[in-house]
Amino acid sequence: MRICVVGTGYVGLVVGTCLADQGFHVHCVDRDPGKIKELEEGRVPIYEPGLEDILRRVVREGRLGFSTDGESAMANADVIFIAVGTPSSDDGSADLSAVWAVAEQIGAAISGPVTVVIKSTVPVGTAAQVKARVRACTDHTVHVVSNPEFLKEGAAVEDFTRPDRIVVGCDSPEAIRVMERLYRGMVRTGRPIVFMDNQSAEITKYASNVLLATKISFMNELARLCEAVGADIEAVRMGTGSDSRIGPKFLFAGAGFGGSCFPKDIRALAKMGSDAGVPLEIPVAVERINSRQKTLLGDKIAARFGSDLSGRCFGVWGLAFKPRTDDVREAPALVLIRQLLDAGAEVRATDPEAIASARMALVGTPGLDRLTFVESFMDAAQGADAVVLVTEWSEFRNPDFEALAGVMCSRVVFDGRNVLVAEVVGAAGFEYHGVGRSSAKRV
Ligand SMILES: NC(=O)c1ccc[n+]([C@@H]2O[C@H](COP(=O)([O-])OP(=O)(O)OC[C@H]3O[C@@H](n4cnc5c(N)ncnc54)[C@H](O)[C@@H]3O)[C@@H](O)[C@H]2O)c1
Repeated sequence: MRICVVGTGYVGLVVGTCLADQGFHVHCVDRDPGKIKELEEGRVPIYEPGLEDILRRVVREGRLGFSTDGESAMANADVIFIAVGTPSSDDGSADLSAVWAVAEQIGAAISGPVTVVIKSTVPVGTAAQVKARVRACTDHTVHVVSNPEFLKEGAAVEDFTRPDRIVVGCDSPEAIRVMERLYRGMVRTGRPIVFMDNQSAEITKYASNVLLATKISFMNELARLCEAVGADIEAVRMGTGSDSRIGPKFLFAGAGFGGSCFPKDIRALAKMGSDAGVPLEIPVAVERINSRQKTLLGDKIAARFGSDLSGRCFGVWGLAFKPRTDDVREAPALVLIRQLLDAGAEVRATDPEAIASARMALVGTPGLDRLTFVESFMDAAQGADAVVLVTEWSEFRNPDFEALAGVMCSRVVFDGRNVLVAEVVGAAGFEYHGVGRSSAKRV
């Protein structure tokens, strides 16, 4: 089976590389010549643990290639994955322009029957429209499969090769056989392929992401209640998450979630609901709660130091929207940095992997001359009135507080992920501000 993957971002590159690792011949296509050049030179343009080693090996073994020439890669393929971006449009709906462009390109390029697999997260009804657009340009048989991806950045290789389940929406027995063959290596240990119709598969992806985002946002709301009444959200989390009906994951209160998926998928599901005449209240509330949560650290700093921060300096630990990635899309750290710069502060920011992408994302931000990117968290703390932990990279979890006290102007820590031990921070003479931890602060 010859495979073409269109879009070599966080998803397409992982899918292409891992399928090549399973023995298939894969051609990855992207319209960005810079990305393709890097890949051809054996460099992975994103930070994703474990990916580069596999990629170099399968390229060396001749099973993975890259190009900007979609047409010839598609003409020679039995299966074409669509893994292009589907960002938010201004009205909140998913912008499908890249998906439509690829569908039309497929229709013009193919030279025989093909299975088109939609990996991108797309609203309900997209598979039917992709099929219509491809069929408008060709007489060859086309099966369209909705196969949403559930990988997590930072653990993408593991998630793709050992998924909890694989969701496949399609309406033909031929497509079912193709998908079973593609994923045979991933389901040997009993993980299920859940077959369904295309529309249900499309909704399943949004249902999963919005449900997870809802858990986080509910805990973030409760964290505010905890602060108001003197409770500790960490205790509430442990007491709640140990209920097996609820489970411990996605219950961590913090500075809000970001990333390329949750925020845009919430907006797209809300728009899908209103377009279908079924307004959905939960995604709308989750989006509102999360936007407010992203300003929480800036608001706490203003409450502690005043709204005019001129002459003050803050060390920001973490720029990526979560650890083990360089992705800063919709990252809470960017919101915080803009708040601090607006209020006149100096900012010293660091991240193990995301400095380059944050630098790009912040281009044009007013006050940028007061922002310095530095290589270590100790360096970020230099001369700071407070340090603010925004992304829970493991290297930030156990700082040497004695050394920190030696380089900072004052001893104040804002812990936007509740990963520091409040008692340890307090014992080192620091003032500790967590999220929803008013009782912890008193310890
Ligand atoms: N990032 C994740 O963790 C994740 C997880 C699950 C699902 N998804 C979904 O997968 C899709 C892709 O996400 P991503 O994070 O990989 O996006 P990305 O922005 O990292 O990558 C998309 C790539 O597609 C390329 N592209 C766009 N239009 C093209 C075209 N016409 N021809 C060829 N290449 C084209 C872009 O140049 C880019 O390299 C989205 O729908 C997203 O919601 C993402």
